[in-house]
Amino acid sequence: MIDLMWGWGHSLKDYLLMFDLREPDLQQPLLDVASGCSSLNAELTHRGYHVTSVDPLYDVSPDMIATAVGVMQTQFEQRLLQYVDKFQWTRINGPEDLLVNQRDIADVFIRDYPQGLAQGRYVNQSLPHLSFADYQFNMSVCANFIFDGPYQDSVFQLAAIKELSRVAKETRIYPLLNAEGDICPHLGELILALQTENYGVEVREVAFHLQKGGNAMLRVWSKECPLEVTKS
Ligand SMILES: C[S@@+](CC[C@H](N)C(=O)[O-])C[C@H]1O[C@@H](n2cnc3c(N)ncnc32)[C@H](O)[C@@H]1O
Repeated sequence: MIDLMWGWGHSLKDYLLMFDLREPDLQQPLLDVASGCSSLNAELTHRGYHVTSVDPLYDVSPDMIATAVGVMQTQFEQRLLQYVDKFQWTRINGPEDLLVNQRDIADVFIRDYPQGLAQGRYVNQSLPHLSFADYQFNMSVCANFIFDGPYQDSVFQLAAIKELSRVAKETRIYPLLNAEGDICPHLGELILALQTENYGVEVREVAFHLQKGGNAMLRVWSKECPLEVTKS
């Protein structure tokens, strides 16, 4: 599903459900990594919140962004029909509705991109290395990239999750499915590796459920909880 997924952008409403985001989560600057043509940044900025979006796509100049997104969306449209049975068509009626929804989301992103780029809200960087300071953000989110992107090996995934956790106190990743639409086969191994390095980890059910099996996110928070020494 890699080519299919690439041109797939989600809205603020989707992100709220995918990551179980609540008002207090939005009150502090948020980092969205592998944001692609999502309308999250445009919609949150419009509502007065602060969000930084990171993606290698943001290397593209404002006058070329519509073309670049158009190419990705054409791939998405061409491939979607091959994967119809991987989706649960309840919230969205079927592929045609999904494509209309995608075009609307991409339009919001494309309109916001020139101003967002100038304001530093869209940043051209790539995992597993980010330039931000340790714990610069309260929360980082990453949708449709870590497990279902092209980097399916656990070495990249662990490095990417640790980098997200370096720059934010808490990281949320969705979905836990790989490019074939199956639960990432080495998810348990990754969770153990993170726990061994003293990260807090939780798999939490979420209300967003478009792909079959795509109803959970991974929460990771850093690091140790120092024990208070009580004096007697
Ligand atoms: C399927 S899109 C996800 C878009 C958005 N997160 C959403 O769910 O609406 C995956 C994105 O990952 C980006 N990407 C590819 N390699 C990356 C990397 N090494 N680090 C961060 N993002 C990357 C792609 O450019 C693409 O926009």
